[in-house]
Amino acid sequence: MNVIVTGGASGIGEGAARRLARRMHVVIADRNFAGAKKLADELNGAGHKASAVEVDVSSKASVTGMVDWAQKNVGDIHALFANAGFNRRAPIEQITVEDWDAMMNTHVKGVFLCNQAVLPGMLARGKGAIVNTSSDFAVMGVANLATYCAAKAAIYSLTKSIAQEFTPRGVRVNAIGPGPIDTPILRQGRSDEVFAEHARRLTRLVPLGRLGTADEVAVTVDFLLSEKSSFISGQLIHPNGGQLMW
Ligand code: NAI
Repeated sequence: MNVIVTGGASGIGEGAARRLARRMHVVIADRNFAGAKKLADELNGAGHKASAVEVDVSSKASVTGMVDWAQKNVGDIHALFANAGFNRRAPIEQITVEDWDAMMNTHVKGVFLCNQAVLPGMLARGKGAIVNTSSDFAVMGVANLATYCAAKAAIYSLTKSIAQEFTPRGVRVNAIGPGPIDTPILRQGRSDEVFAEHARRLTRLVPLGRLGTADEVAVTVDFLLSEKSSFISGQLIHPNGGQLMW
């Protein structure tokens, strides 16, 4: 069994790659090729099967190249974790059209392109599983994160439409909505002290009272990409410590 994990070089994607490698060949796809290669080397060294490929998920040519490369060098792609993303905070009056486009291109167009590229192979085999990374914030809405929240809401909507279209043909498609997870995305641009204060603020909203770990998200992804979730499609599942209940 083979899986592509986008954004696999860091954070949640890295956690998913580590966990999925226990049972699948993992194609670690990231615009940070050095990071993807380092992780693939480590996993191969530990006796797992992993490959690294460079991709910019916002580019159709790059995504097509990633899937072609994986199919040629690894084999059929049975599963996809479309997870690459980034986060940029800004008050609404400071958001430029370039900021808007960058957010939509990586998150919404990226998920669309990656799903579209793996679907033909899955449909030909009448079987496949896809997980797209949305966020709790898709449902909540958060000040200073308007573009991010809009993009994550679009990913959830896109996931439901793709699931409606392809579940009858054997491909289950779900989204995850993580709460705050301790990954580089939360730490970027913050000193340890500022991060600690930020984490305290974030965890006030989390009934479990702490940040989640990448592996706590990875177990959800592993479940949704496995036969254990054979009756689940079109859902937004939240590994979120209870931050959002709906
Ligand atoms: P991260 O910054 O640790 O990892 C993101 C990875 O995506 C990086 O390796 C980066 O190089 C890659 N990437 C970004 N843009 C790319 C592009 N255009 N093409 C290819 N690769 C690209 O961040 P983290 O936390 O692991 O985030 C992963 C996903 O989870 C993102 O979609 C993020 O929005 C989402 N998320 C994160 C939460 C958190 O609290 N950490 C909460 C909810 C959602």
